[in-house]
Amino acid sequence: MRIYKVKDYAEMSRKAAAVMAAQIVAKPDCVLGLATGSTPIGLYKQLVEWYKSGDLDFSEVTTVNLDEYKGLPKENDQSYYYFMNDNLFSHVNVDKSRTFLPDGTQPDAEKACTEYDEIVRATGGADIQLLGLGHNGHIGFNEPSDVFKKNTHCVDLTESTIKANTRFFASEADVPRQAYTMGIGTIMSAKKILVVASGADKADAVYKSFFGPITPQVQGSVLQLHPDVVVVADEAALSKCDL
Ligand code: F6R
Repeated sequence: MRIYKVKDYAEMSRKAAAVMAAQIVAKPDCVLGLATGSTPIGLYKQLVEWYKSGDLDFSEVTTVNLDEYKGLPKENDQSYYYFMNDNLFSHVNVDKSRTFLPDGTQPDAEKACTEYDEIVRATGGADIQLLGLGHNGHIGFNEPSDVFKKNTHCVDLTESTIKANTRFFASEADVPRQAYTMGIGTIMSAKKILVVASGADKADAVYKSFFGPITPQVQGSVLQLHPDVVVVADEAALSKCDL
């Protein structure tokens, strides 16, 4: 595992965007595993800038996202479908028919999850998977549990995740209670994993994920078993790690 300690959010965004950009330049028809949330927004902005300056070309890229809320229509501005279009897809020359997320509008969870696993499998899997870390160490929406789940599944979001996501909704009552998420098996089968973390509120999750015991109670700790993980985190997020 390689850990880049950077000064702040802006530096984290630039450095992590450089890792993504290197992947796209090295393999123009790569599969990018993408994440939503507030941490990667600066990274996406940087990728858009590099696209606009002619330094990046997304025309052959395929994308697979980690997760999607269950029950939110695509046009809801809190759906991850909306987020990805708003922050990246609508600003670069990616072929939108090759951008994939779990179908949050599919009420049949088993169908939605099986179909998404088939989609990811058909792409050949992610060359690089971008991940943020939840306060409880979740990756995707794989919440603390007694097991690591392998495939895409429907999760009940924990109180802590619902609270953390309330900032994006009018009220806590509006936050969806369930989501479809890629499983740990799929995440771990990405060839490379890029984790971004910023802020003191992530210090515990960062410490436990990368320096604590490997346990499904901290789902991010499984990343210690992956052969090619790059972490880009700022000083505040790394403040509990002895680096
Ligand atoms: C998002 C996702 C989540 C977030 C995590 C951190 O697709 O899967 O695991 O990466 O909740 O969220 P932020 O970046 O908002 O702190």
